[in-house]
Amino acid sequence: MFAGAYRRHCSPGPSEEQSLTPLHLKPGLFGLSHWAAIAHSHDLGLASHLSAVAQLTVQFSDYLGCSSKEQRVLRRAAFLHDIGKIRVPAPLLCKPGKLTGRELQIMQSHPWLGYELLSRAGEWNEVVLTVARDHHERLDGSGYPRGIGGSEIGFRVRLITICDVYCAMTEERPYAETMSWNLALERMSQKGTRLDMDLLDAFSTMITCHHSHRGTW
Ligand SMILES: [Fe+2]
Repeated sequence: MFAGAYRRHCSPGPSEEQSLTPLHLKPGLFGLSHWAAIAHSHDLGLASHLSAVAQLTVQFSDYLGCSSKEQRVLRRAAFLHDIGKIRVPAPLLCKPGKLTGRELQIMQSHPWLGYELLSRAGEWNEVVLTVARDHHERLDGSGYPRGIGGSEIGFRVRLITICDVYCAMTEERPYAETMSWNLALERMSQKGTRLDMDLLDAFSTMITCHHSHRGTW
């Protein structure tokens, strides 16, 4: 089974102690709620997307058999993956239609912006920083900002990327048509070598089972 095949990836995550430095030990730390509030005040769509990806990531990692501890690590990373967009002008985040070259450049700077913001905050572990920086990288090297690929992209990034792509396709967006869950899965499966296809198979099975047995997500 797919879920069983991935259990080995889920178990060794950093402990809670390693994952997050306790807030009272460092000055100037605000925690997840701080970033959630900033995202909410910057753009409601961004805040909604962060919550949706975090929720779906927990559901998927649970389906794969990840430990509760690992699920918490993944949830934090998923919730903060797009936090760099708080440095992208809000009108650009919801601009309908095609972005200009310069606008695309600004938009595609959000992984590094997020990495830098979270690094400077000093409260987040390497998993959170890596996911913020690498969630637009693709296995075939076609992603950004660094164009890395293959084994350079870790399991957690691969997992959260799939949840991110699915949420982005199925959410209401001013700049693109909202897709049904099954069309989104079909489009994702057509991305060939860009996404982790074994993980995507497991994800598709989970989503399909959910909709077959329990209605909408
Ligand atoms: Fe992103």
